[in-house]
Amino acid sequence: MVKKSSLLLLLSFLSLFSSLAWAEAGEKPLQGKVINVIGDSYVRNHRRPFTEAWHYKVAERLGLTYNNYGRNGGCIAFDRSREGFGKSILQRFREMTDTADYVLVIAGHNDADKIKGSADSLAMFRDSLDALCQGLLTKYPRAKVAFVTPWAVPRPGFAEVIQTILEVCAAHGIPVLNAAATSGINVADEGFRKRYFQAPHDTAHLNAAGHDLLVSWGERFLLELNANSQGFIRGLKDAYQDYFLVGVAVNQRNIRVPEQQALICREFNSITAENDMKPQPIEPEEGQFNWQNSDRIADFCRAHGIRLRGHCLVWHNQIGKWMYLDKKGRPVSKKVLLRRIRRHIQAIVSRYKDVVYCWDVVNEAITDDPRAENPYRLSKLYEIAGDDFIREAFRAARKADPKALLFYNDYNECDPVKSRRIAEVVRSMKADGVPIDGIGMQGHYNIYGPKPEEVNAALELYRSVVSHIHVTELDVRANREMGGQLQFSHSGEGMSPELIARQQQQYANLFRVFRKHADVIDCVTFWNLSDRDSWLGADNYPLLFDKNYAPKASYFTVLDGPKTDQTAVTLPAKRENLHVYLCFGQSNMEGAARPEPQDLEGVSNRFLLLSAVDDAERGRVQGEWTRAVPPLCRPNTGLTPVDYFGRRLTEVLPDSISVGVVHVAIGGIHIEGFMSDSIGNYVQHRAPDWMKNILKAYDNNPYERLLSMARIAQQSGVIKGILMHQGESNTGDPTWAAKVKVVYERLLSDLQLRAEDVPLLVGEVVQADGQGVCIRANKQIDALPETIPTAHVVSSEGCTNGPDRLHFDAAGYRELGCRYAETMLPLLR
Ligand code: XIL
Repeated sequence: MVKKSSLLLLLSFLSLFSSLAWAEAGEKPLQGKVINVIGDSYVRNHRRPFTEAWHYKVAERLGLTYNNYGRNGGCIAFDRSREGFGKSILQRFREMTDTADYVLVIAGHNDADKIKGSADSLAMFRDSLDALCQGLLTKYPRAKVAFVTPWAVPRPGFAEVIQTILEVCAAHGIPVLNAAATSGINVADEGFRKRYFQAPHDTAHLNAAGHDLLVSWGERFLLELNANSQGFIRGLKDAYQDYFLVGVAVNQRNIRVPEQQALICREFNSITAENDMKPQPIEPEEGQFNWQNSDRIADFCRAHGIRLRGHCLVWHNQIGKWMYLDKKGRPVSKKVLLRRIRRHIQAIVSRYKDVVYCWDVVNEAITDDPRAENPYRLSKLYEIAGDDFIREAFRAARKADPKALLFYNDYNECDPVKSRRIAEVVRSMKADGVPIDGIGMQGHYNIYGPKPEEVNAALELYRSVVSHIHVTELDVRANREMGGQLQFSHSGEGMSPELIARQQQQYANLFRVFRKHADVIDCVTFWNLSDRDSWLGADNYPLLFDKNYAPKASYFTVLDGPKTDQTAVTLPAKRENLHVYLCFGQSNMEGAARPEPQDLEGVSNRFLLLSAVDDAERGRVQGEWTRAVPPLCRPNTGLTPVDYFGRRLTEVLPDSISVGVVHVAIGGIHIEGFMSDSIGNYVQHRAPDWMKNILKAYDNNPYERLLSMARIAQQSGVIKGILMHQGESNTGDPTWAAKVKVVYERLLSDLQLRAEDVPLLVGEVVQADGQGVCIRANKQIDALPETIPTAHVVSSEGCTNGPDRLHFDAAGYRELGCRYAETMLPLLR
């Protein structure tokens, strides 16, 4: 999960992926590594210097040393020496340097033209490719080898070659960048070729502008390879395929400009017309339909297999006055209004039945006035027809297309008052048989709000009413305004690093909550493609792509969101297979070092935490199990010795055993803070003010919290040990050992445990080569086994510390944690 405590951490975590972050840091992420690129004229770049090619540019941006082994006309499988195009890549790959960190094969175009429809040639191609994969993996056992397919050229042979590359590479575990499916290179389109290929009839060679389209695409692929993933290039739609559709609202320009088309196809699988299907634009006068723009959008969706969200049939804005006024400008009767609404809906919905999968039937019909008694907005439509205009609209839409899902759509939908009204109106209409399938949450938010818990609460409410929720118009502006009102300021506050980080955090939070409700959320749509297109103006910076259509830091946050989720945990079926440890103490137990990316990744799903406090952002609930990804203690705490204690145990213990921890710690607390008899007094008279807030998180009784969590843990597992790191605050206190004994024995008796089954592990404090601030506490700690025979001391010698000489640094916590584990292992019975 992404850390809340520090935006900095988020940035450093993202730095793996975000060019922004590493550009700021001044170093290139793959500096000093070598890439060999082998292939045909896609690599050699035909008549142009290869320095114009996307792979060269990516290598340069990432700091890679680049070797080009392209040969115009070359094939993977076929020897073309006699035609003057040289040997096959299967023969040539041995000529590449022996050492490389990355080997990229970009070829297949000429193979496809050779194979055409011949099954024999295809079989031969498959065998050669198989041998090439084998040969590359043998020659480069340590390099990352990957393939890039040809474009989707509409000629016989190409589909087969691409499919074969995908299959054969998959069999060898070699990642493939599927250029046919993900590059957005629209080779079939003449206009596209004119602009981006070396000649209009050329279907193979991009010109410099064409290569530029692919730089961020290729860069991401290489970075993903580097991050050890399978490296299949993915857009938002792919990253979220297990969750919901990811949509975008488009204007006419977006669907005409080739690079914007490509971006849409790469990232999104649902489209909304930003304006072109609204009441007035589509039927400006009664019976006069303006289908041109909406048809273009529908055709774009049809051509690219993208789903179309219909927006919107009835709205008090962008509606022709003819709908509710007569020729003399007087309001029409209710009967006339409803008839016009029905006809309007019938015409539009039936026209796009084949491609529109859902409609925002009624938009924004609920009032914004929190004090109003009437929940409805007092629009002209409402004045004439009351809420019947809503009911009638839904009925008409259902009649026109029984298959389309029908939504009520509104903004400020996370506001507690308005959300209750929306839920109530929809609930009661549904009860009356009005065909409403879902609620659209517009999602016009900002970088300060709504808070994840507010979004979560709205979702909880809506899902109790409908089983389909769409986020229909998401954007996150860089000021304090929100909502769908058409009056707003066009300038943001100016984008500083702090605001960028806030936006990332807001997007991370929002998508985390959305993913959590993915069982009812079917689609999340961004309102516009890039900041340049945003209805809010580019200065509001609300979207994931900047005004040049380049992905922003927030893009990567959203894209990688699913990787940060803590999947629901599975507890072992047998209690004895869950080893539970109770952990308590002061700041070094709480964790004073910021976890680094390595600490957040690769935590075994056999290492579990029983949350001792709620953490809305991470979806953690007090008393429930979760994966033990840092922070273990509370939302804003750091890396603790327990992190690597658990990691080490899960490494060493058999796969059938899971390790669960309960973690309660408070910086600065004395041992008295864990003694039931003295805690009341401690909170009142001894705890400094800053500690009081932390104590509140445990209802002012940390011992009680530890105990109640331990009891829950006992239902699923067996308590095997108690880990303490405490003593700094009691340095020099001669009664400390006796007090620790009281706490330990109290725990044992409250939980009905025997000391010989449940040892106490106590870590030493920071030594700092003899300069540790509380180093005298180690004397007491080392002597503890004299008072408690089942206590075991974990040495901190050589564990590195932070500048305060009181707290360990991240490396120190890791080491100390492993030592707790090593101490525990021989004691396990
Ligand atoms: C906006 C469009 O983006 C603008 O281009 C237009 O001028 C006004 O409408 N809630 C909605 C959308 O449901 O239809 C609105 O779209 C934004 C607020």
